[in-house]
Amino acid sequence: MSTNISEAIRTRKSIRAYQDKPVSADILAQIVEAGQWPPNAGPFQITVIENSDLRQKINDRTLSFMRAGEGFIKERASLPGYQPLYGAPVLILLSGPSGAPFNAVNTALAAENMLLEATGLGLGSCFLMSPCWILNEANNSDLLREACITEGNTVHCAIIIGYPAAENKFTTAERAKKGQVNYVK
Ligand SMILES: Cc1cc2nc3c(=O)[nH]c(=O)nc-3n(C[C@H](O)[C@H](O)[C@H](O)COP(=O)(O)O)c2cc1C
Repeated sequence: MSTNISEAIRTRKSIRAYQDKPVSADILAQIVEAGQWPPNAGPFQITVIENSDLRQKINDRTLSFMRAGEGFIKERASLPGYQPLYGAPVLILLSGPSGAPFNAVNTALAAENMLLEATGLGLGSCFLMSPCWILNEANNSDLLREACITEGNTVHCAIIIGYPAAENKFTTAERAKKGQVNYVK
């Protein structure tokens, strides 16, 4: 399946439950390559993690962090069956040299390209900040090492990709247009 860009922009949504089905290497390569064509103002890295052991460790430490947190984050983590990586078969981390200007923007633009490409190809996806809360902490440096993200780089955002499960668990609200628009003529 392939959709045009206008349709992909409007149909993309955060998927929070995935089938236990791998993403083929060629589909994944196409999605990742889309992440290499964003508007850009500086270096960044795209780290594609299919390794289930590493994904599980990142998931579990993120969950522990969220459970120890407060407010909305703690509430989410307390929902029965909640997993921060939602069982997706692919986790993609976006990182950049620590302290470099525009890191957050560069990586977010690359992430959005991949989300839209995945949508166009009929896959589900979700933008995530939650793994970043733990990955940049010194006591989790083993995870960054395992992900081959070298010292001096910071993870700024992440996405997950996979085939959506029938029920989009943990997504309650209907999608709505965001942002305020002012036309100045
Ligand atoms: C900065 C940022 C951080 C986000 N972090 C998470 C996250 O950690 N976990 C999650 O499930 N969704 C996360 N999201 C996804 C948003 O919840 C989602 O995009 C928003 O509710 C709109 O829904 P939609 O993506 O279906 O349009 C994040 C989105 C943004 C922009």
